[in-house]
Amino acid sequence: MSNNAQRKILVTSALPYANGAIHLGHLLEYIQTDIWVRFQKSRGHDCHYVCADDAHGTAIMLRAEQEGISSEALIDRVSRDHQADFARFGVGFDNYHSTHSEENRYFSELIYTRLRDKGHIATRDIEQMYDPEKGLFLADRFIKGTCPKCHTEDQYGDNCEACGATYTPAELIDPVSAISGATPEVRGSTHYFFKLPDFAGFMHDWINDGHVQPQIRNKLLEWFESGFNEWDISRDAPYFGFEIPDAPGKYFYVWLDAPIGYLASFKNLCEREGIDFDAYWNRDSEAEVYHFIGKDIVYFHALFWPAMLHGAELRTPTAVNCHGFVTVNGAKMSKSRGTFIKAATYAEHLNPEYLRYYFAAKLTAGVDDLDLNLEDFTQRVNSDLVGKVVNIASRCAGFVKKLGGGKLSEHCAEPQRLARFIAAGDEIADYYETREFGRAMRRIMELADEANTYIAEAEPWVLAKQEGREQEVLDICSVGINLFRQLMVYLAPVVPAMAEAARHFMKLDTLAWDSRQELLLDHEIAKFKPLMTRVETDRIDAMIEASKEDLVEEQKLKSTPKGPLADDPIADEIAFDDFARVDLRIARIAKAEYVEGADKLLRLTLDIGGETRNVFAGIRSAYAPEALEGRLTVMVANLAPRKMRFGVSEGMVLAAGDDDGIYLLEPHSGAQPGQRVR
Ligand code: MSP
Ligand code: ZN
Repeated sequence: MSNNAQRKILVTSALPYANGAIHLGHLLEYIQTDIWVRFQKSRGHDCHYVCADDAHGTAIMLRAEQEGISSEALIDRVSRDHQADFARFGVGFDNYHSTHSEENRYFSELIYTRLRDKGHIATRDIEQMYDPEKGLFLADRFIKGTCPKCHTEDQYGDNCEACGATYTPAELIDPVSAISGATPEVRGSTHYFFKLPDFAGFMHDWINDGHVQPQIRNKLLEWFESGFNEWDISRDAPYFGFEIPDAPGKYFYVWLDAPIGYLASFKNLCEREGIDFDAYWNRDSEAEVYHFIGKDIVYFHALFWPAMLHGAELRTPTAVNCHGFVTVNGAKMSKSRGTFIKAATYAEHLNPEYLRYYFAAKLTAGVDDLDLNLEDFTQRVNSDLVGKVVNIASRCAGFVKKLGGGKLSEHCAEPQRLARFIAAGDEIADYYETREFGRAMRRIMELADEANTYIAEAEPWVLAKQEGREQEVLDICSVGINLFRQLMVYLAPVVPAMAEAARHFMKLDTLAWDSRQELLLDHEIAKFKPLMTRVETDRIDAMIEASKEDLVEEQKLKSTPKGPLADDPIADEIAFDDFARVDLRIARIAKAEYVEGADKLLRLTLDIGGETRNVFAGIRSAYAPEALEGRLTVMVANLAPRKMRFGVSEGMVLAAGDDDGIYLLEPHSGAQPGQRVR
């Protein structure tokens, strides 16, 4: 434990929508939050990091329909994809849940009924565009038409991209539903409203009380001056979400139950791990609660959410920490330029820790946008992480092995230098705590420069050639390793996988913040292995190309009909002999594994009675590897081997599949691996 007492901290990142892939823009947020959380844990605090998929709303319902699957199937698949992406980038949630969960229904109803019982809910009839063909009320972005001002066709329901005019959908000339193409009609319906103005005084105090960054406070105050209305929290059926308890056919608007998802995910964690939920959420709680979000969703988090919590007699957040948007090479991420980069696409080409470091090096506590300049990225990672940090260990390790038999010197030749490195930890900790990660990285790299200069000037490689100076060389290199250890303690929140490798190299139990106080004397280290390799520019080019291909794939998906209509017609007739040439065998799945960099494939090791085959199968979306091991299935055993990017596939397994799912074929019990199937 460090100078301050143990704190209870709950941290969240915004809940990603369950209808799209995680991209590098999202990752800024999850990486920023994860670094902060890892730092708090390193300091010995009781810190919990929760998140969830934001699973409700019209967009998700329509997306599922377009894919010909149920909303539940869509959100299950997306949740698995999201979690796989986060895991690759080292984002270490303590819990990842869903807003489509029983916990969330419970808290949504609880908060709503508390607000209602205190008179903070109103009902009112409103008129809205309605799609008579789909039987659906249309949000503004689902209506298109001709701009009433400049007469440009095909504009969205709330503003014109050509002339910038804003208007209501009713003002559009020749409006059509963007979903069905039908002409919308105006229909009335009763909506439920949260009476925000009841909380004006409270919110005014709250935003002036240091819970948001100064820039955000100013923006919110502007909003205050322009006045604000009651907030429409209901949507009519059909809607994918929770029905409002006393209002059949009315559903909570997705943005009502989304932030409540923070409570739901935490509750789910508390139940599993025996944490006291109320100690974090009661009004008199002494715990700290932080939400990390992007600047586009500030109103929901810094106004509506605190008001809802306050009205429902729960505590409000300690702070809402807002960040800016990611741009790539100076411009908004663009699909056609290949700079709209998905997390999975990045991870297929580059080490995720490069990105973690680069984001850290550029992050401040402010809300400015952050540019991922790919040249700068390459240069910064190569010169800092590889050139400065790893270099220290790689220069010293060999001499320790050779002259100390793998053991560091018994005494420290540079106690003052080490004391300074240890003391710098307090300053670096302050930077982390205040989310000035860029400053923390600069300070760490100054230390790395100092360590390199020390070694360069001491020239152990020159001394090593001189007789009788072995102890001196060992002393210098032991100082080098100790300095490196300090740096890895400081960098561990940013590059956890590299830190883990460094921990093994130094044979340490921990790299926790306070562990750095004790020097490594007469301490054994392991053989040095490169801890990080250089960024190669051709990998970056390949990633950009692959991102352009992602776009092509998406467009194909949009233009092919989905669902039952897409079923294959029965294929042309074949002779029996043609069929008999296919060697089908019963196979036992001896092993099933994820394939690094392939988001659709599993690698299967199949046992066909004494012989094993390596087969890549595109069934990852439907099966967890551990669920497959030991099962029997049917394989084509005489398919010509196919070389894939990940290795050679020696056959294929049989599965039924369409957009509703993938179902591996399984024989009745009693079938034996290797048996021929006819
Ligand atoms: N579902 C809502 C959040 C509900 S929180 C109760 C949502 N989802 S999102 O998937 O669109 O965005 C998730 C987070 O990623 C948001 O905080 C958003 O600001 C952030 N980002 C999305 N694109 C981004 C960039 N290009 N750059 C930085 N952050 C970005 O909003
Ligand atoms: Zn216009």
